[in-house]
Amino acid sequence: MFPQDIRRRSQLLREDAHSRRPPAEPDARGQLLEQRFRALSQAVLMTRATASSAAWRTLRMSLEPWKPQRTRASIQLYLRREPDASTYTSRTVIKKEEEEKEEAEKEEQEEEEKEGVEEKDEGRRRRGRRRRKGGEDGEENERRKRRKRTGRGEEEESKEKGRSLTMVRAKSWTLKKHFQGSPVQSDFELKTAELPPLKDGEVLLEALFLSVDPYMRVAAKRLKEGKIMMGHQVARIVESKNSALPTGTIVVAHSGWTTHSISDGKELEKLPTEWPDTVPLSLALGTFGMPGLTAYFGILDICGVKGGETVLVNAAAGAVGSVVGQIAKLKGCRVVGTAGSDAKIAYLKQIGFDVAFNYKTVDSLEEALKKASPDGYDCYFDNVGGEFSSTVIPQMKAFGRIAICGAISVYNSTGQLPPGPNPESIIYKQLRMEGFIVTRWQGEVREKALKDLMKWFSEGKIQYHEHIIKGFENMPAAFMGMLKGDNLGKTIVKA
Ligand SMILES: NC(=O)c1ccc[n+]([C@@H]2O[C@H](COP(=O)([O-])OP(=O)(O)OC[C@H]3O[C@@H](n4cnc5c(N)ncnc54)[C@H](OP(=O)(O)O)[C@@H]3O)[C@@H](O)[C@H]2O)c1
Repeated sequence: MFPQDIRRRSQLLREDAHSRRPPAEPDARGQLLEQRFRALSQAVLMTRATASSAAWRTLRMSLEPWKPQRTRASIQLYLRREPDASTYTSRTVIKKEEEEKEEAEKEEQEEEEKEGVEEKDEGRRRRGRRRRKGGEDGEENERRKRRKRTGRGEEEESKEKGRSLTMVRAKSWTLKKHFQGSPVQSDFELKTAELPPLKDGEVLLEALFLSVDPYMRVAAKRLKEGKIMMGHQVARIVESKNSALPTGTIVVAHSGWTTHSISDGKELEKLPTEWPDTVPLSLALGTFGMPGLTAYFGILDICGVKGGETVLVNAAAGAVGSVVGQIAKLKGCRVVGTAGSDAKIAYLKQIGFDVAFNYKTVDSLEEALKKASPDGYDCYFDNVGGEFSSTVIPQMKAFGRIAICGAISVYNSTGQLPPGPNPESIIYKQLRMEGFIVTRWQGEVREKALKDLMKWFSEGKIQYHEHIIKGFENMPAAFMGMLKGDNLGKTIVKA
């Protein structure tokens, strides 16, 4: 659209705007100005970041050619900033909307008068008052009525109002520098970029909730410096050129640490149809998402727990661990959990763990594990790795199974990793150890797992806790805090 286009439009405009006097009938030129306005404001919005004076001058001319000295601020008076802060509507459109509203009100009144329904008067007065107050309900009713009348969908209507002018500035956290040991704030950089208009088949996503997960510490090693941090988010489709994904659809997207993104829709996941109304959408990143599925497949498929067995899980009060313990409980196991604070231990007991202890405050981890289950463990769900695992493995029972899910104790290590467990225990106890990644399970098994998790939740057999941090700007802090153990349950950033 610029800069050559702007110059061309500017030229056209000058030809047309030969008069430097205000038109006698401002509305007579309304249609023409509106057309110009749409094209030009798109150019202006695209150049908003750099405040291109050429673009603003051109827009100024399109609005009031007889007053070329208008300032940028005064031009903005002609625009109404929509609630999503990314769209502007011109005053001409606003005027049109108001006229339509008045007309609808008149029609409604006439209809009611015709029907002679006295009782409706009070309701009408109330609705009128609400509309005059500019209340959202009133406006939405109006829109609904108008749509019913015109038979036009919301999308067509908003296009007509020029909302296809949407230009969005996406904020993104990038990896400025590869982590050395524990991540620090200066390893991240917040960048802003304007997104291009949507192409056919694409949708515009707005992040509602974003996930920070331990795997990002590992995956960031392979990320190029300057790139956006990876990660899932629950997002709303705020603009769509894809009929399968209409505006308003809630999806889980792998867009990374960004407030807005464009997707061709191929990798977006809609929420399961049975998603209960009462359940927060953020759970699609926790118990009903990747961590919940990790717990499900790890404890059921990899460990293959059976009723009556003893299960040990570490990082037990976190996103994965808390679900592992609860699934093991509902399968009839005895569950031992470890976590890093007394508040977490209290929570584990509250959600049904048989034994839970703070691994940071016990004198000896070995003794504490022995005390918790003198006969040893049938299953060990390992989120922590390192020395913790070397201490657990000699306490496994014969034919014990170990699910290697994560190794958070060594993710920030810079030196040599601690030595692994004694192989004798593994051989003579005939243990089975298996590493796994949750993406192994796809399609029907994954759908079934989600259904099971939701069912157990609705039956009160699984509870959840979220550690919610508000503000997209706090993504790095949320991530660093989670790695240190600040969280109880799943760490979520609310955008
Ligand atoms: N294989 C897979 O597909 C898969 C998928 C998801 C997650 N994971 C892994 O599962 C593990 C848990 O992930 P999550 O998302 O549920 O995270 P989380 O447990 O919610 O949060 C991480 C927790 O790790 C604990 N921790 C940190 N440093 C530790 C240390 N040195 N020793 C012991 N505990 C430590 C902290 O709790 P404390 O206060 O208890 O120390 C912290 O709260 C991670 O290792 C992750 O990489 C694997």
